[in-house]
Amino acid sequence: MSESSDTTSGSSDTMAEEPIKEEEKQIEEDEEWESLQSFRKLTKARVDQLNAEKSKRVVHELAKTRLSNSLIQAVALLRQRNRQGVVSSLNDLLACDKAVPSQPLSWEVPEELADLFVIYSKSDPAPEKLSRLQYLLDISDSTAEALQGTGDRGLPIGAEEEEFGCDASILLDDTSDFTGEKTAGPNNNSVRGFDVIDTVKSQVETLCPGVVSCADILALAARDSVVALGGPSWTVPLGRRDSTTASFSAANSDLPSPAMDISDLITAFSNKGFTAKEMVALSGSHSTGQARCLMFKDRIYNEANINSSFATSLKSNCPSSGGDENLSPLDATSPVIFDNAYFKNLVNKKGLLHSDQQLFNGGSTDSQVTTYSTNPAVFYADFASAMVKMGNLSPLTGSNGQIRTSCRKIN
Ligand code: HEM
Repeated sequence: MSESSDTTSGSSDTMAEEPIKEEEKQIEEDEEWESLQSFRKLTKARVDQLNAEKSKRVVHELAKTRLSNSLIQAVALLRQRNRQGVVSSLNDLLACDKAVPSQPLSWEVPEELADLFVIYSKSDPAPEKLSRLQYLLDISDSTAEALQGTGDRGLPIGAEEEEFGCDASILLDDTSDFTGEKTAGPNNNSVRGFDVIDTVKSQVETLCPGVVSCADILALAARDSVVALGGPSWTVPLGRRDSTTASFSAANSDLPSPAMDISDLITAFSNKGFTAKEMVALSGSHSTGQARCLMFKDRIYNEANINSSFATSLKSNCPSSGGDENLSPLDATSPVIFDNAYFKNLVNKKGLLHSDQQLFNGGSTDSQVTTYSTNPAVFYADFASAMVKMGNLSPLTGSNGQIRTSCRKIN
């Protein structure tokens, strides 16, 4: 280019100069275009590189989070004694590890890692998966060998699996080959209102089939009933799924009895992770509802820590012999209002059930009952948070359980 400029410079023939200038301009433009293009290519390569790095980082973060969530889920299901759930969470964990290989995981309770390993090893996994899990759970070869010959603690191999959570198991009807929880001692002829849940469920199914679980409906119905009767409200976390089974034996063994003394009541709630304080707050639910004569007969005829005129008033509807199914309100002061009168009654020795009066009987929970009896706002706040906690008891999520079409039977 410089050569042709030189040859043309100084020429007086402007007509001849024009095409040369044009040519030069064109060449310059071409060069600019090329450099722009290569700049673009470079920029695009850099952007692609940055994007690739960014997506790698995101995938890495996601896999790490999912991996640790899978471990938490596996332990939660282990505590619910849900073997199938444990195995499926561990498979998720291994899948995340495959995407982004992880270091051995740490967990506060190493015995639980050992239990996870045992359960997984009994599920007949591919050897490479088992050995990778062994590495991730940080279990030595000798321990792994020893563990594979044992059962996990508290979950004997071959034991019937039981799930205990907020999973609508109580709504399942008995069938010819299945006995659910409805007929377990503490529930039989006590738990009522299943038809109300059926009505809600069928309306929800018509509008939005297969989405809202019976367990969520129950949790919402509990909150809305309290609100309808003038009590506190709370936000119900949703997304529970329904159980595909129920436990007659757990309903019999785990539900508290109205004949229990305070120490057994505290133990029964503590077995489910509740403090004595939460137990007292939750018992405030007896601000509404009724009990059958059978449940308080012994108390009104034989106990001493009961207001005598209160006992007398109950006897006409609850004779010493017969009348077992006759109902009386759990809170005679305001039976269909959700308030703190239940606690005022206890302070006045007017608890209907033996277990109710145990909360105010010279023991460690007396002061809390007194507080609730004079300060409904404190009771409401404690009740609401304890209800949320109860509704969060071992819910089934993800691919566990199902959304039942009818709350009375599994799909
Ligand atoms: C502290 C341990 C508890 C014991 C020993 C107990 C026992 C009982 C008993 C024996 C009845 C009467 C059942 C019948 O007569 O057939 C009853 C009714 C009732 N309980 Fe409890 N309960 C306890 C805690 C709770 C909790 C934590 C709640 C809910 C948060 C609750 C909610 C109710 C309701 C709503 C009723 C009335 C049911 C109706 O009217 O149909 N109870 N309870």
